[in-house]
Amino acid sequence: MKKGRILSGMRPTGPLHLGHYVGALRNWSGLQDDYECFYMVADWHALMSEYADTTNIARWSRDMAADWIACGLDPARSTIFVQSQVPEHSELHLVFSCITPLGWLERCPTYKEQKKEVKGKDLETYAFLGYPTLQAADILLYLGNVVPVGEDQLPHVELTREIARRFNQIFSSSVFPEPQGKLTTVPRLLGLDRRKMSKSYGNFIALADDAETVKKKTLTMITDPKRIRLADPGHPEECNVCSYYDVFAPEMSAEVQDKCRNSKWGCTDCKRTLAEALNRFLDPIRARRAELAGDPAKIDAVLEKGREQASAVAKETMRKVREAIRF
Ligand code: TRP
Ligand code: SF4
Repeated sequence: MKKGRILSGMRPTGPLHLGHYVGALRNWSGLQDDYECFYMVADWHALMSEYADTTNIARWSRDMAADWIACGLDPARSTIFVQSQVPEHSELHLVFSCITPLGWLERCPTYKEQKKEVKGKDLETYAFLGYPTLQAADILLYLGNVVPVGEDQLPHVELTREIARRFNQIFSSSVFPEPQGKLTTVPRLLGLDRRKMSKSYGNFIALADDAETVKKKTLTMITDPKRIRLADPGHPEECNVCSYYDVFAPEMSAEVQDKCRNSKWGCTDCKRTLAEALNRFLDPIRARRAELAGDPAKIDAVLEKGREQASAVAKETMRKVREAIRF
């Protein structure tokens, strides 16, 4: 017996990196046995912010699906699909748009933050304000009750609950459950420069980076600023390099801390060793990814099967929705 149904998604806006693995994918793959899982490439959501240049969205969508599978999502156990291939997402989005008060969207913290932070893109659009209503449609179309997301997405899950409640109340129905967010336990991994890991800062190691690139990038990592000379004892608990060890090579953490605190090695040695550990971690992912890249029909087949499975559920939910609104 499964514990419930999961839906989660990611926007295909560029290559996936270590932060996606730690913050989401590792968690997603661990849920596959206990839940019925739907994992969605949110290409309509990508369009909402990337509409001015859509050149790469389709390619990123397929690459993302390949990365997911390479990281352990199993098409035999999970439904992996592309949002825009299941037209019911936009249909339910329209229904939710009719019942979502503007104030709920205007007050949404992610909206206010994105408008402030994102530069070089005009996000003053009608669709961008409604971003969370599409996300609510994604989740509720599958009657999802659990949504594994990062902390930044919790306001959207909360809005989804409010939209579900409002729909059920207005149309005297019980079509929709109120889903729960499920936070990943791992702390957020910072970028190589200790800022937030982000595509726009280019401060990440991509899952698809080759071994040499991983080494080069790792050597640029910012270390404990108080440790200038080898003889200065380091403070591993404040060093980003050390937190990468904690996540990707925890069995080495104790030794790394000792060598750092007691000046037994320098930061360059420490980073070179980390690069090796990261490459050991990435090797199997790269191998599975290369295998998939050599057989593009395989990804197409996974996404087609996902589309069929997702469509069956989505159609049934829309049937109930039309019944509830008496259309
Ligand atoms: N907004 C999510 C993000 O930026 C992506 C997303 C779209 C999503 N639809 C979803 C996440 C539904 C969870 C559930 O990360
Ligand atoms: Fe950081 Fe390693 Fe240098 Fe210590 S030795 S400060 S853990 S990079």
